Parts: sequence; structure tokens; C-alpha cells
Amino acid sequence: MKQGVLVTGGTGYIGSHTVVELIEAGYEVIIVDNLSNSEESVIDGIEAITGVRPDFVKADCRDIVALEELFDKGKFNSIIHFAAAKAVGESVEKPLEYYHNNLLSLINIISLMRKYNVPNLVFSSSCTVYGQPDVLPATEQTPRLEAESPYGNTKRISEDIIRDSVKAYGTIKSIALRYFNPIGAHPSALIGELPRGVPNNLLPYVTQTAAGIREVLSIFGDDYNTPDGFCIRDYIDINDLAAAHVAALDRMIGSKMKESYEVFNIGTGRGVSTMEIVKTFEKVNDLNLNYRITGRRAGDIEAMWADPTYANEELGWYARKSLYETLRSAWKWQQRLSGLEISKD
Ligand code: NAD
Ligand code: WQD
Repeated sequence: MKQGVLVTGGTGYIGSHTVVELIEAGYEVIIVDNLSNSEESVIDGIEAITGVRPDFVKADCRDIVALEELFDKGKFNSIIHFAAAKAVGESVEKPLEYYHNNLLSLINIISLMRKYNVPNLVFSSSCTVYGQPDVLPATEQTPRLEAESPYGNTKRISEDIIRDSVKAYGTIKSIALRYFNPIGAHPSALIGELPRGVPNNLLPYVTQTAAGIREVLSIFGDDYNTPDGFCIRDYIDINDLAAAHVAALDRMIGSKMKESYEVFNIGTGRGVSTMEIVKTFEKVNDLNLNYRITGRRAGDIEAMWADPTYANEELGWYARKSLYETLRSAWKWQQRLSGLEISKD
């Protein structure tokens, strides 16, 4: 019989790609999302790719009564919890909304997991918990630093809530995946990132500039202590990132966990500078990007990349896509969104 998985935030960017991977791996998916940062039409894209239409329930994870109706039907024994607000800058302006949404949603989920004996939780954490480490690459043992934003703090506190709950209650197992910088789209260009308003993240800004929606890309700072002076990140293909969730679930369901709470870095292990992204994007998509170099962005860390060895060895998971493929997929998705002709591979 197929294993059921509840995917909160499943119409979002990472959630939708993960749902595709789950369906392709034979899981039965139920999505719950309040559509605060996504659209129901994403389900059509998932269906077009997989041939399967996952169950969808529009509900808010802060609403425990609505969530309980789902648990009551008993159709899943695992949860992947993506639902959260994620805009770093907005979280500084509206800290209570971020704490309320990100923490209450998680507390509701764990409370109902206890009540209904649902054992498995995969949680979306972030490399933001490491801040700027003294030593790179970051391993899972790299100390977590005080968060730079309320958003970052919700990830740190969420990890602690899960760790403490797993320890205290004994019925729940959890894997927290610390994502580095997810980019790109499904190669079919049927699903991808749907940023609202002016993007804060690099890749949607790059693709929107290429499409003429934004006039010019600002590259924040060229005077960092890095080989080319630009910031460095670990950009992980969204499809590879999605596959890590299936590996985590398989590990939990297959009783292969070494501890009841485990943490994995999900990155490529390669640091790439902002300018390398821009130049590679231009090259693989055969276009010129309008960009200018401006001052540093407040709060930016200089360099960050993962040591993914633990995930490689324990989850059997590897980042497989090349930066070329990923930046092609990002542009194809933007072409589709903008109604442009999608360039051939
Ligand atoms: P996203 O905004 O595209 O997806 C989140 C989804 O959750 C959206 O569809 C939104 O409508 C939904 N949602 C938000 N609050 C909800 C609530 N209370 N109830 C029900 N649904 C709710 O974001 P994403 O990039 O797919 O991120 C998914 C998760 O991964 C988040 O927890 C985020 O913090 C984490 N994460 C993202 C990144 C990144 O760079 N994108 C990096 C590290 C961690
Ligand atoms: C990447 C690089 C910018 C935009 C954020 C969150 C973090 C995590 C991932 C969730 C940086 C540069 C960007 C632009 C630029 N999310 N840049 N011009 O800063 O690594 O992290 O997303 O957990 O919490 O803080 O990602 O995509 O914003 O920036 O030059 O218009 O691109 O300076 O070096 P970041 P990003």
C-alpha cells in the first residue's frame, strides 16, 4: 500500500517540486496550504508532470481545528512541513507575524502528531542558522549563531522545539534539512518559483531582469574578502533539493535513523560567487544581462557553502544537476511566466 504524506506549504516553491518527487517515488500526497504565497494552479502543473493530481486542502496551519480534520481522516503517517513565511526583510518589520505563523503552525503540527500517533516529521530548516561561520564549509556541527532576523530566529527556535519534543514524547522522529540557496525550476517549466512583488533573492531578480520586468540587476558589493570580491553562496538545484526530502522520508520509514532527531545540510558543497551566477546565466542562456555593481546589502554574509558529506553518506543523497542545467531551467520558467517563447535545449 502507498504511504501517505501530508505536505504543508505544498503549493509553494520547494513544496511543489517535492510533491512531484514524492509522487514519482510512489508516495500518496495530501497538500495543505493557505495560498498566502502560492496559487492553486500549481496543482495543475504537478498533475501535468506526474499524471497524478494530489489531494489539496486550503487551510491555515495556525488553525488547529482545520488541521485536526485532516489528521482525523488518518490518511498519512508522515509530514513534510514547509508552511512558513520566509521574507527576511519583512520579518524585521513584522516580527510577531513571523513568530506567530512559523511557530504556531509547527506547534499545531507536533501537537496533532502526538494526539494521532503520526510518527515522522521532515522540517524545512535553513543554513541561515549558521550565520557567518568562522570556518567553511559549514558542517552540521558548525555552531548555530544568534539569528540576524526574526525569520532566521523562527528556524532556530523551530529546530529546538522539534528536538525537545522528540526527546520528551518518544513517539515522534524528525529530520531537519538545512537548505542552502535553492534555485531553478522543474525542467518541464511547468512549475517553478512564483515571487510576489519585487524579488529579494538573486535568481528571480536575474530572470526578471532578463525578461525586461526589472530594468537592472544590482549586484550588492564587489569588495568582499573572496577570490573575485563578490559574495559566495551554495546554490542548490530545486529538483535536487526536493529529492532530499524523499531520501529523508525513506530513511525514517525504513527505520534507518541513528537518532530520533537528525539534521542534514542540503547543499552542493560548491561555493559560487554572485558574478559567477550572472556570467554563467548569460552564457548558458545566450543573452546579456543589464547589471550594475552597487554597495553592499545590509546584513549580507560574505560567504557560505555546505559540507554535504553527512547527507551523501547517510541519506545516499547527492546534488546531481549542473549549474548550467539549473540556470537553463530558471530562464525557461521565467520565459513561460512572461509569455515568451521557451528556448530549446
Ligand atoms: P514558499 O513561500 O514558496 O512556500 C511556502 C508555502 O507555505 C506557500 O505556498 C504559502 O502559501 C504556505 N504557507 C505559509 N504560511 C502558511 C500557513 N500558516 N498555513 C498554510 N500554508 C502556509 O516558500 P519556499 O521557498 O517553498 O519555502 C518552503 C520552506 O523552506 C519554508 O519553511 C522556508 O522558510 C524554508 N526555506 C526556504 C529557503 C529558500 O531560499 N526558498 C531556504 C531555506 C529554508
Ligand atoms: C544571494 C546573493 C546577495 C539579490 C536568503 C535568506 C536566507 C535563505 C536564503 C531562507 C547575496 C546577492 C541578491 C540582488 C544581489 N532563505 N544579490 N542582488 O542572502 O543567501 O539568503 O535566502 O531560509 O535566510 O537570507 O540569498 O538570494 O537574497 O542573495 O547581488 O538583487 O546574491 O548579496 O550575496 P541569501 P539571496
